[in-house]
Amino acid sequence: MSLEKLLEQNKGRYEHELKEFLSIPSVSARSEHKDDVARCAEWVKAKLSDLGMKAEVVPTKGHPVVYGELMDADASAPTVLVYGHYDVQPVEPLDEWKSPPFEGTVRDGRLYARGTADDKGQVHVHMKALEAYREAKGSPPVNLKFLFEGEEEVGSVNLEPFIRENTDRLACDVAVVSDTPMLAEDLPSICVGLRGMVYMEVRLRGPGQDLHSGQYGGGVVNPANALAEMIAQLKDEQGRVTVPGFYDAVKEPSPAEKKAYAEIPMTEEDFRQEAGVPAIGDGEVGVHFIERIWARPTLDVNGMLSGYTGEGAKTIIPATSMAKISMRLVPDQDPNAIREAFESHVRSLKPEGVELQIDFHAGARAWAVDPAGPVFQAATQAIEPVFGRGPLFIREGGSIPIVPMIEQILETPLLLLGFALPGCNLHSPNEWMSLDLYHKGIDIVTRLYDELASQLGN
Ligand code: BES
Ligand code: MN
Ligand code: MN
Repeated sequence: MSLEKLLEQNKGRYEHELKEFLSIPSVSARSEHKDDVARCAEWVKAKLSDLGMKAEVVPTKGHPVVYGELMDADASAPTVLVYGHYDVQPVEPLDEWKSPPFEGTVRDGRLYARGTADDKGQVHVHMKALEAYREAKGSPPVNLKFLFEGEEEVGSVNLEPFIRENTDRLACDVAVVSDTPMLAEDLPSICVGLRGMVYMEVRLRGPGQDLHSGQYGGGVVNPANALAEMIAQLKDEQGRVTVPGFYDAVKEPSPAEKKAYAEIPMTEEDFRQEAGVPAIGDGEVGVHFIERIWARPTLDVNGMLSGYTGEGAKTIIPATSMAKISMRLVPDQDPNAIREAFESHVRSLKPEGVELQIDFHAGARAWAVDPAGPVFQAATQAIEPVFGRGPLFIREGGSIPIVPMIEQILETPLLLLGFALPGCNLHSPNEWMSLDLYHKGIDIVTRLYDELASQLGN
């Protein structure tokens, strides 16, 4: 049977199997889901074995890595490493989901569930592409290595040592990562830049316990007020981060890049609607909004907690306050240097009368690439017949910690071929993936094997 026909006939079966994958609540951040994450790793491993791969679940200090190899192509064939993650973000707030987060539900051509877009749906694209190719045409003309981790959503801390310890085993000619969105349904996109990050937690402790705010207000430092004042000083009126040295390594985009950002087919109004905000704002004054989200560093509070937040009024000076604060970084900013600079800046902002504790959660380097050469050529040729047009090269504001590490440690080019969409609720309630793009993704990846073989084979 032709590959096209086979893909068409199997759509229902692929979707059914994806739903099974989505039903395993592999939430890496939550210890109560540790066994589910392990079960999910076993599920992925079994699927890779079914694909004829030599597959194993590799334990780490955290959640396991699933690794599979299919080295059936001849010696001159290139080797392709496929990376993705089978862990997902927590699902709270639960009552905002229109259908249960671990029950794949189709509405209007969209499959809703946690992990559809980030990243199980995209991992599954690669599994089904290999399956279909083998069924229709036999062994693909490339050697394949599948590396699927269970800790991306918590910063990939244990994957770096795994990669460092297995450089020979993971050696490849290109690494393909499907964990990013396209710009729009009809605009196939290859991601050529990611931001990095430093994620911190700041805690203040004032009185030994909550105090009556009438008896003590005005007399003792309030940790909630103090933290709010400190946070307010982390960005200036121009929207710039005030941490000393924060911008030292940041390069101005070239005139060509600035021109490219201005030509991206997304308006401020599109972006405003997608975000669901009354007006866009924030970020640096006078900088184009695309540049602000793709190519400029920034700082955001991701969560705050202090004092009484229940029903009605309770007059207290809270004993403690805390904020989770992350900074998105751009190429050449060193996460370690930024972390240190942030810590000493925050210390300098602390008023007397409270104690300060600063913890570090996650760090990642930014990444950017010039989309030229045989890998981008191959990807373009795989995309064109499916979409009737070539890809846009876009950056993204999100982070994938392992991408710059793969590039550096394995010394390999990367191809970020993503099939999610803006507005698909990554990390939010009602995450979804377009089923059309899921199936197009499978088609593209089968074509990519042939195109990479002809571009990179010798
Ligand atoms: N798939 C995302 C990264 C992403 C999101 C890239 C949107 C491009 C656009 C990934 O799973 C993710 O969420 N990464 C985290 C990294 C963090 C936990 C270290 C992020 O960006 O917040
Ligand atoms: Mn992801
Ligand atoms: Mn994610």
